[in-house]
Amino acid sequence: MSLPYVAFEGIEGAGKSTVSDRVRNLLEADGYRVVQVREPGGTAVGERIRSILLGHDLAPEPWTEALLFAAARAQLAAEIVGPALAEGSWVLSDRTVYSSLAYQGAGRRLGIDAVRAVNEPGLGGVWPSLVILLAVDPERGLSRQEVGDRIGDEGVEFQRAVAKGFERLAADDPERFVVIDTHMALDEVVDAAHRAIRSRW
Ligand code: TYD
Repeated sequence: MSLPYVAFEGIEGAGKSTVSDRVRNLLEADGYRVVQVREPGGTAVGERIRSILLGHDLAPEPWTEALLFAAARAQLAAEIVGPALAEGSWVLSDRTVYSSLAYQGAGRRLGIDAVRAVNEPGLGGVWPSLVILLAVDPERGLSRQEVGDRIGDEGVEFQRAVAKGFERLAADDPERFVVIDTHMALDEVVDAAHRAIRSRW
């Protein structure tokens, strides 16, 4: 059976962190050990890379950006996600490699396959088995966003391209993806995500 590495994905303002926090509590109440992480970051190396990527003071080129996300992710896979799965924990991640495929591959137009190719070597097979894609209309998502970052502030056209990227990824891989419309009440979104996870394992 595939390892319980679950990704929460979506554009800005989809509610990933709120939903993943609530699902974590439900899984712990079900009796599972859960490790929760976020990308970019989650390790000392990753948090430094995060400040390069998301601060407004630097302007990395698109491929620099893609490679830095991949580098932070390789560190997280080796240091946290791989070991947690090996010891039998569940891993919930607020964003994963699928954000790079959608944001850098589709949003920055580097190409989904090219971005996947630079991520794979650093991950050593540590790859999400289930992706919960929280779908929100781009305008509504941006209006819900509390604090902006360099990439989150790219504007609505960029968010639309990213959303299209996520839609394409989900359509091409329906076994791995569960798409949840977040225009319903938060409790219903959390319940749908929890059910999707429990029905998989
Ligand atoms: P974060 O503060 O985690 O915010 P959010 O609540 O939107 O998840 O910011 C992460 C930002 O980095 C967000 O704008 C999406 C972007 N991002 C990428 O462009 N590529 C990636 O691979 C990842 C992980 C994030």
